[in-house]
Amino acid sequence: MAKVIRSIDWETFDKLRGSEKRAYFTRGGNIFHIIMSQQFDRKFLDEICALATKIRGISKGNKGVTFLQSLLQGKRAMLYFVQPSTRTFLSFMAACQILGIHCSEVRDTSTSSEMKGESQEDTVRTFSSYVDLIVMRHYQAGFAERIAFLLNQTSRPVPVINAGSGKDQHPTQALLDIYTLHRSFENYGGIDGKRIAFVGDLKRGRTVRSLVYLLRNYEGVKLYFVTPQELQMGEDLKEYLREQKVRFEETSSFEEVVPYVDAVYMTRIQDEYDKAGESKRIAYSAYHFKKEYLKILPPNAIIMHPLPRREEIPVEIDDDKRAMYWRQVRNGMWIRVTLIATLFRKDKDIKEY
Ligand code: NCD
Repeated sequence: MAKVIRSIDWETFDKLRGSEKRAYFTRGGNIFHIIMSQQFDRKFLDEICALATKIRGISKGNKGVTFLQSLLQGKRAMLYFVQPSTRTFLSFMAACQILGIHCSEVRDTSTSSEMKGESQEDTVRTFSSYVDLIVMRHYQAGFAERIAFLLNQTSRPVPVINAGSGKDQHPTQALLDIYTLHRSFENYGGIDGKRIAFVGDLKRGRTVRSLVYLLRNYEGVKLYFVTPQELQMGEDLKEYLREQKVRFEETSSFEEVVPYVDAVYMTRIQDEYDKAGESKRIAYSAYHFKKEYLKILPPNAIIMHPLPRREEIPVEIDDDKRAMYWRQVRNGMWIRVTLIATLFRKDKDIKEY
């Protein structure tokens, strides 16, 4: 399967469904590129959650820190981030440092040969020659995927991690969100059967899209999409959920769902994708988590946010024990360590430590 698919052209590949592309992002049966959430199954999700917890434990002692740093010593990563980002960038950089990987960075292409008319594909391919891993954030949906496809045709492919691709996907954020849900519900039956509300700009929020794709791996979950009319979840994803038999409901009334959910996933309005300032005309304050909601939110429910936040969550809420967004940030670093270690087949060494 993997062999056949490797010989196809980009146009044919591009039209395949996520699940059909899965084999293309693996090598010898192991995950090689991290591009889209559809490539992950339940077994993988359970394994990385367990491994992340193990790594966190190992990192608590000096000996453990040295062990982790020795795992990928001498490897080099390129952080190619041409769309604004500081937190995800730093999270990946910290994750690389924990594993002993050296990082180089490209953040601004105005000083590169792209200015001389070189294609972005050629630029990335050139840079790939100097490194063992590419972590990529790009404003264009599908760009990281295209680079992974392109590198697969070369004699020296290196793994590509999608760290955010336009309005489309942000799979590592979704994996850290899964890890946060997993840890929060560890003593409450796990993620299976949980009711999760996604609130705000679901039309352009890539973190929600990637997380929703992952949630099809859990039994009996129920999703609520709480949005203004203008920012509803894309039809493609709703169609996917219908096919996968994942239950979901759409509503514009936030307050009504708060008492019935196990998790609330807040998002900011993604106005950087506006064409003509249309976000300003949307009454977004109805999609803010009001302080009063703390009284009606169930005691074991959690509040999540990928950050950065604006007014969606007032700072007073940070002290509530159900607020998980600062933990998400920390979990993100550990999940990225776990993913990178797994791509380089170091999972076994870690399990045996
Ligand atoms: C998110 C993103 O970039 O999509 N941020 C992040 O990676 N933590 C969410 C956002 O920008 O709203």
